Amino acid sequence: MSLEFSADATRKIGALCERYVVSGTKKPVVLAALHLAQKEFGALTDDALRLVAATLDLPYAHVYGVATFYTMFRRTPGGTQTIRVCTNISCMLRGGYEVLGAFETQLGLKKGESNKDFTLVEEECIAACANAPCAIVGTKYLLDIVPSKVGSIIEELKRDPHPESEVV
Ligand code: FES
Repeated sequence: MSLEFSADATRKIGALCERYVVSGTKKPVVLAALHLAQKEFGALTDDALRLVAATLDLPYAHVYGVATFYTMFRRTPGGTQTIRVCTNISCMLRGGYEVLGAFETQLGLKKGESNKDFTLVEEECIAACANAPCAIVGTKYLLDIVPSKVGSIIEELKRDPHPESEVV
């Protein structure tokens, strides 16, 4: 294994283990450790997952299963900001696919692709159904999106970035 956590990440994981470990298992810390690994290494590569598994004394298969279940984790490097466009039922009924298409056109990306600035992801419900269609970037919600506004939304995100790393 070639990767190591920084001193800061190691301290955070240690503090989380002290607080949340019950019955000897460190499973409650997996999500936070994966966020920290993604923040430090840019993606959850096999080596990054092995590091998380070894750090938390958990089987690789468990860590892999968690990392590949949630859409906020990525296995390959992405852009600085990830635009997650919801196309679940409420958003779909109010134009979510048209919004996703507008982001694809404006960014020159297909869903799942990245450039140096952005990764575009088709997302499940982000719990803002009353303001469908919507998207989330880092911790910033974009609500009541109309395709004609997508260009100005992207310009605003370039001026005022909301990187994934602000999550942890
Ligand atoms: S369906 Fe899009 S936020 Fe719930």
